[in-house]
Amino acid sequence: MKRGTPALAEETRAALRCVPTGVAVVTVVREGEARGITINAFTSVSLEPPTLLVCINRQARSYLYIAHSRRFALNVLAADQQEIAERFSGKRRERQFEGLATTLGNGGIPLIDGALAHFDCVVSAEHEVGSHSIFIAEIERASHRIGEPLGYFDGAFRTFALERVP
Ligand SMILES: Cc1cc2nc3c(=O)[nH]c(=O)nc-3n(C[C@H](O)[C@H](O)[C@H](O)COP(=O)(O)O)c2cc1C
Repeated sequence: MKRGTPALAEETRAALRCVPTGVAVVTVVREGEARGITINAFTSVSLEPPTLLVCINRQARSYLYIAHSRRFALNVLAADQQEIAERFSGKRRERQFEGLATTLGNGGIPLIDGALAHFDCVVSAEHEVGSHSIFIAEIERASHRIGEPLGYFDGAFRTFALERVP
């Protein structure tokens, strides 16, 4: 398969379905209006200083919110929060937060109650790569609780079987 061919793009898409990930919602506020976007492209980058990254499609409505406000929260979802993952993945264009329990984090950004982990972040760099932007962000505050994570694998939401390998 050659670089830049549709065949390679197709095989890449198929191969990426084999990569299990967690699921998170990036929440953001711009000029007083809150938005959120479900993502699975997020990872830790550094502990000194505490830093993570998220990859956001520049076509997404949420992109401009993040690019302009340069601040967001990452809410890592629990296994019982699939409805929230769906709610923030384009199923609901307006009133995304209606009926959703949240607590205000840094910068007045809503943190989703019941998430396994929350990170209040300030963007330190943006790198445009193809259709997406990688936002590298310094973590200002982090919190977590013990619980089951929501997973994503082979195009479906999953629980993880979290047994330790013997
Ligand atoms: C499991 C899952 C993972 C996703 N991961 C990402 C991601 O990492 N980055 C991204 O930009 N969009 C991702 N999306 C797609 C966005 O959630 C979707 O495009 C959303 O509609 C964009 O919303 P907006 O246009 O309102 O900002 C994912 C969707 C799902 C269901």
